[in-house]
Amino acid sequence: MTTRITLADFLATETQGMDNAEGLNALTLAVADACVDIAALVRHGELAGVLGAAGQENVQGEEQKKLDIIANDVFIEKTQNCGQLAGIASEEMDNHYAIPDQYTRGNYLITVDPLDGSSNIDVNGATGTIFSVLPYTKESAPSDDDFLQAGNQQVLAGYCLFSSATMLVITFGKGVAGFTLDLEQGEFVLSHPSMQVPKQTAEFSINAAYASHWHPPIKRYIDECVAGEAGPRKQNFNMRWAGSMVGDVHRILCRGGVFLYPSDARMEKSGKTGKLRLMYEANPMGWLMEQAGGLAHTGASSILTVAPDNLHQRVPVMMGSAEEVERLIEYHH
Ligand code: AHG
Ligand code: MN
Ligand code: MN
Repeated sequence: MTTRITLADFLATETQGMDNAEGLNALTLAVADACVDIAALVRHGELAGVLGAAGQENVQGEEQKKLDIIANDVFIEKTQNCGQLAGIASEEMDNHYAIPDQYTRGNYLITVDPLDGSSNIDVNGATGTIFSVLPYTKESAPSDDDFLQAGNQQVLAGYCLFSSATMLVITFGKGVAGFTLDLEQGEFVLSHPSMQVPKQTAEFSINAAYASHWHPPIKRYIDECVAGEAGPRKQNFNMRWAGSMVGDVHRILCRGGVFLYPSDARMEKSGKTGKLRLMYEANPMGWLMEQAGGLAHTGASSILTVAPDNLHQRVPVMMGSAEEVERLIEYHH
């Protein structure tokens, strides 16, 4: 890299001319700050005393790790006083958190998955934080319902990947930019400008342990990939599954592929359609994917057009290289 462009430098030009550019910059820097703190906790692992189960479940009946709760607290602490937010909704909280009266209430709502892939935490695997920013124009404090906006309303979305390096990847709807954390300077530096997902690929990402429960379109797609050169696709495929959506989607943004977390017969028996959450995972990652030239779809519609009916709604997810997602959509019809 020749010139060093920090996140602050990047924002100064990226948001130029947007409504409330200064506010958006302040909000982005506050989120980045929260991610730096969460990354430090993740990096210190056992030494920070943050590993293991919290001994309670979240509203979705999933076991919470200590770090799920700590990351949630850090995120709120670091973003609530930036002056730009009216409320924070999180995978780890039943209802949204209203910005306390002592702080200025702003014109945005944020949704967050404070620690994605948290089952990886105890084995030192990749994790991340995912966030999505929505507009809010009312004077009064928001309700949970104010968060229920489709993904195509997002004004900013991104994730921070905690892996061998800490990376922040964001979009304001003008393409996707990736930054790597310079640990010595404590700042994010632009390392991946204009990220583009290759249109074609020969790599898929799905938890194949659920194969016996898949619906026919997913089964057909994966069977054809696995059949390799001898099969109808006439090429060999590769498979990866990190157990963290941030880890898997980041890899796909870098080198192409398709990420699948479909609904299946077993989930539907217990009343769920998919595992991943629309507001905290599918919308922000879907928008990033589309901004990088890929596609994000449920099989029935574009993820970004799904009208949410509850904060913790789950959706089937297929996202990645455009030609592969188009093929999957065709199989669903
Ligand atoms: P979270 O840790 O925020 O609950 O998210 C985990 C999600 C996602 O990151 C990952 O792709 C998926 O769950 C893994 O699920 P399986 O354990 O079913 O493979
Ligand atoms: Mn998650
Ligand atoms: Mn999580």
